[in-house]
Amino acid sequence: MQNEGTSQRALPMRGVPQPSRESVLSLSDVHISRHPVIEHKMTALRDRETTAPDFYRLVRELGTLLAYEATADLRTQTVHIQTPLESTDGQRLAGGVGIMPVLRAGLGLAEGFRSVLPDAPVWHLGLRRDERTLEPIEYYNQLARAVNLQVCYAVDPMLATGGSAIDALNIVKRYGVPHLRYVGLIAAPYGLQKLREAHPDVPIYLAALDERLDERGFICPGLGDAGDRQFGTL
Ligand code: PRP
Repeated sequence: MQNEGTSQRALPMRGVPQPSRESVLSLSDVHISRHPVIEHKMTALRDRETTAPDFYRLVRELGTLLAYEATADLRTQTVHIQTPLESTDGQRLAGGVGIMPVLRAGLGLAEGFRSVLPDAPVWHLGLRRDERTLEPIEYYNQLARAVNLQVCYAVDPMLATGGSAIDALNIVKRYGVPHLRYVGLIAAPYGLQKLREAHPDVPIYLAALDERLDERGFICPGLGDAGDRQFGTL
């Protein structure tokens, strides 16, 4: 929906009050990265001159870096192993980790996550925003039922009105995963507050918190349409 070609007549956020950036910074369990490499890559991502191949590569790399940050508190269990020299105790992740990309823009982030967690099952969920109402519409669902996960990461670059993220988490909650987390690149204060209210139990990891939504519901200053820019469909 972050699409420059969208009809100028669709202004669903016109007149809708929005919280300030400062007022949402204190929301609980919201982690906004301050890592310099993430900030560096985000600037390249926002740049309108960045080409689709570079944009996709950057989203993947940011997915890897955010995966590293968002998995810092995963539970582990002690296991006994033999090194080539002797026996020792080590730590292994306690239970599986799943990745749920929200199509289509979440695909690049999911690839980045998989470079950290290659064994993670990937649950694809297709949601798209109706351009006039901004309501999310589900069009694809490959969520597995037979699972034994300790946590599932919902990944989607853009948190605009929050509707897609809220719906995605509502859907995955029906599958009984004990812990869910949301990982995105950019949030608008409006969507972040809505997501926090709807799912207070879900930690949120972001690369950046932007200023506002414009009247069309685009994140500003933002980066444009993350799906179109990854896949060259501008
Ligand atoms: C974008 C984005 C999110 C959603 C955010 O997807 O990737 O899924 O919009 O908006 P919201 O917070 O207001 O719900 P889009 O509908 O453009 O689909 P796409 O991923 O196929 O480009």
